[in-house]
Amino acid sequence: MDKIVVINFGSQYNELIVRRIRSLKVFALLLNPSQLDLKDKEIKGIILSGGPFSVNEKNALMINEEIFNLNVPILSICYGMQLINKMLGGQVETSLNKEFGKTEIKIIEDSPLSKDLPFTFNVWMSHNDVVTRIADNFNILAISNTNKIAMIKHLEKDIYGVQFHPEVDNTEYGLQILDNFIEICQIKREYDMPNFIKTKIKEIKDIVQDKKVICALSGGVDSSVVALLLDRAIPNQFIGVFINHGFLRKDEEIEVSNLYKNILKTPITIINAEDEFLNALKGVIDPEEKRKIIGKTFISEFQKVSEKYLVDFLAQGTLYTDIIESGYNSAKTIKSHHNVGGLPKDLNFTLIEPLKTLFKDEVRLLGKELGLPETIYNRQPFPGPGLAIRIIGEINKNDLLALKEAHQILDEEIKKDNLQFSIWQYFIVLTPIRTVGVMGDSRTYGKVAIIRAVTSKDGMTADYFKFPYATLERISLRLVNEVKGITRVVYDITSKPPSTIEWE
Ligand code: XMP
Repeated sequence: MDKIVVINFGSQYNELIVRRIRSLKVFALLLNPSQLDLKDKEIKGIILSGGPFSVNEKNALMINEEIFNLNVPILSICYGMQLINKMLGGQVETSLNKEFGKTEIKIIEDSPLSKDLPFTFNVWMSHNDVVTRIADNFNILAISNTNKIAMIKHLEKDIYGVQFHPEVDNTEYGLQILDNFIEICQIKREYDMPNFIKTKIKEIKDIVQDKKVICALSGGVDSSVVALLLDRAIPNQFIGVFINHGFLRKDEEIEVSNLYKNILKTPITIINAEDEFLNALKGVIDPEEKRKIIGKTFISEFQKVSEKYLVDFLAQGTLYTDIIESGYNSAKTIKSHHNVGGLPKDLNFTLIEPLKTLFKDEVRLLGKELGLPETIYNRQPFPGPGLAIRIIGEINKNDLLALKEAHQILDEEIKKDNLQFSIWQYFIVLTPIRTVGVMGDSRTYGKVAIIRAVTSKDGMTADYFKFPYATLERISLRLVNEVKGITRVVYDITSKPPSTIEWE
């Protein structure tokens, strides 16, 4: 697919550039400088991103200077603009009076990049260094109100630079500037979900040919979308496997099997492995150990099924954020996430990851386009290990049943007040702490249940949801009255950070 590539020099807005370009119906990808393939004929435009460094530092990130001879339009932003100036003979220096935040700029020479822009407007600047002399064969197109170079263009080639950030909301006409760049690239605007489906189906058919593909399904949006794509592309060669680990919400395993019956032409294989998982977790208290055991048991169950079929490919719902994060992050492990799709790469299959260029919201759109019910494509996140990480400490069957009931009550009461769309994720945590209660005239001695409900955009940070007291009261009353073993209910009012969303 024709695309614009965004070269990553480390700016915190890089993903945003990709999203903005995609919102204008052009496919865009984020690449490290070394990943740029100069022979890739599908690249119709290159954006050099901003970054936190100085081009004058000894180990400054560079780009192959051959890009200037490619005849592909280039838009360089902030660090990107300083870099091309330096590479092409200009001068970049650290400025004493810096530009941060809202800054007015004035267009002093028209160009295709400033089409439909007013003469003056506000942009968002964030830089320490400035271009103090532009490279030979470049023209200044705009200056800021403190007389700094804000926009430049090569005299003959479609090489542009902007000192500000067109990708952020605070830059007026920022989207127009990116739109103008797309026009300069003369790239077709054909990136939408129907076209994505067509391209992916063809790609899957070409790769798989007459071989077989296996895919682990969870009922979640990512694996369901992968299954729908495979089902459309290669219906008779696709083996969908749903391993029920027993830690799903009440009746969820029935809903999941019905879902796949309704949306797929190919029947799926269902493995009920509740006992295997419960046995493997006997006596285990440590959350990390729990996750690892669940992951291992999952793989061994999956391996047992896959050995029955002669399968060459394994399909997974890896998302673009997983790829970006694993490529650019060296953050510490807070929790080792287990994802149903995330099987280890040494399973002796070739991987097919049809969603690996998509953001989560795009996967939801894709699911909608493929006919997935709204309850699935807009489903709130549910962790791979399921309720197992919501029972603190050792898991037993009774607690699991109690937690399923408790979650059901929470869900019903939240929906009664129509709050489900205002909360990003909600659930009950069952603790091993026992406290004294009184019911009727008798003493009780049961467990503490915790209500957790958070608002969030992406799960990376979260705040606790401000429930109406009346809703909390109803939930508490029902939990204590209807769920055997719960004598006390508390509400978790910590945000993330410092806490995490799940308790384990
Ligand atoms: P935490 O607890 O780390 O959770 O703040 C952030 C988001 O990730 C979900 N989560 C998981 N998802 N496998 C998953 O697929 C896991 O092991 C896992 N652990 C946490 C959590 O529900 C929240 O949405």
